[in-house]
Amino acid sequence: MEKYLINPNQKLASVSRDIYGAFSEHLGRCIYEGVYVGEDSPIPNVNGMRIDVVEALRAIGLPVLRWPGGCFADEYHWKDGIGPKASRKKMINTHWGGVVEDNSFGTHEFFELCRQLGCDAYVTGNLGSGTVQEMSEWVEYMTFEGVSPMADLRTRNGHEKPWRLKYFGVGNENWGCGGNMTADFYADQYRRYATYVRNYDYKNRVQKVACGPSGGDYNWTDVLMKKAGRAMDGLSLHYYTVTGDWAHKGKALEFTDEQYYTTLEKAYVMEELVHRHDAVMDRYDPEKRVGLVVDEWGTWHDVEEGTNPGFLYQQNAMRDAIVAGLTLNIFNKHCDRVKMANIAQTINVLQAVALTDGEQMLLTPTYFVFKLFRDHQDNTLLGSYITSKNLSEKGKLPHLTESASIKEDGTIVSTVVNTSLTETADVLCQIADREVTDVEAEILTGEAHAHNSFEEPGQVASTAFADVTRTPDGFRATIPPCSVVKFLVK
Ligand code: AHR
Repeated sequence: MEKYLINPNQKLASVSRDIYGAFSEHLGRCIYEGVYVGEDSPIPNVNGMRIDVVEALRAIGLPVLRWPGGCFADEYHWKDGIGPKASRKKMINTHWGGVVEDNSFGTHEFFELCRQLGCDAYVTGNLGSGTVQEMSEWVEYMTFEGVSPMADLRTRNGHEKPWRLKYFGVGNENWGCGGNMTADFYADQYRRYATYVRNYDYKNRVQKVACGPSGGDYNWTDVLMKKAGRAMDGLSLHYYTVTGDWAHKGKALEFTDEQYYTTLEKAYVMEELVHRHDAVMDRYDPEKRVGLVVDEWGTWHDVEEGTNPGFLYQQNAMRDAIVAGLTLNIFNKHCDRVKMANIAQTINVLQAVALTDGEQMLLTPTYFVFKLFRDHQDNTLLGSYITSKNLSEKGKLPHLTESASIKEDGTIVSTVVNTSLTETADVLCQIADREVTDVEAEILTGEAHAHNSFEEPGQVASTAFADVTRTPDGFRATIPPCSVVKFLVK
């Protein structure tokens, strides 16, 4: 029997809803086909946005969407994507698949998508190959209300009012595809570019996110915090879970038990990364004003056979769902520092929450994890602990992970992940100073390879969970292998 203790008297920090954000790049079929099909498409749409996809994302309460990249961002010139569509520049998306980018999805379309989704906007600017003026003018175009060249241009393009821009990224992966810069060079560039990312409206303060490290590059974090920490609101972190190596990553649906555990061990490295980057940031920002923004995370497998290698299209199984559950519990536990995260990517690319094929759309196992975790959004994290053995021989992989938060009405939300392929977990949960009157639970479980396909889209979905019994101060539950469970306790 594993013991699970939750302490409602220990209120730790706010679980920002933005931890549950997603990333959408001009890459493969993420934007085009995945979200945007154009106004004249036979696929049901509103102003060009697929109705099925918008409804699915609304149902998980997607709080924030990052756009337009990724590596694409540091080659993107925003003025190519405004004005009459017929006269927008056509170009080659050199980074992703060498296909024609017709710029029919640009700034206005992105904000229309956010409007339909009811989510906040996170736009990443071009520091790698763009100018300070170009970046500055984009922010002016998006956020300035009044008389100015960019506000006038926006009005002429059909949108008189400025949009609400919550976050602006000053470059992406500038240690790599965003210009191959050193930490020192980028820190100086960041300070320069960010100076002209103006806040025109005190009610619409744009939070500036600096390009952060790749994985365990703690020196990058140190240099950025030292040289530019005071000029940023967030520092990004990118970490992908790759089962094999970058040349042979491994397939999304074909893997051995050993590979399953390797994937999860590698996903669990996120715990160490967040912990150690947080410790470096603490040296310069002990108040934790600057958020760690994990704006690219997820599994990266080999592309599905027969698809364009530059499109990064992969299937998604229960294994990916367990990665998502592990990762989101880590972010919740570190929500005093992790203020936003964006799974890569939203639709049809990498660890997507939905896949499309023409008119069809399916929800992936990962989607249902976001559905279960939605109840944590904007709650207060509680002190909690679960006993659990380590399943890994070489590294770290807890059999069980959890996080617990409390809603304003006093409901406790807990999410527990069972990473084992074979072992059921009997869990006894005790909540300090609480008389429990009701427990409801929902589960996502299945064989590790289980997935949804266009032929069989209903194989994996979350369902009500019955193997839970209320006790005077908590509950007992029998949690099956390879599962994610959400408990709502009153
Ligand atoms: O998400 C795919 C790519 O991964 C992004 O464009 C880039 O930022 C990262 O290397």
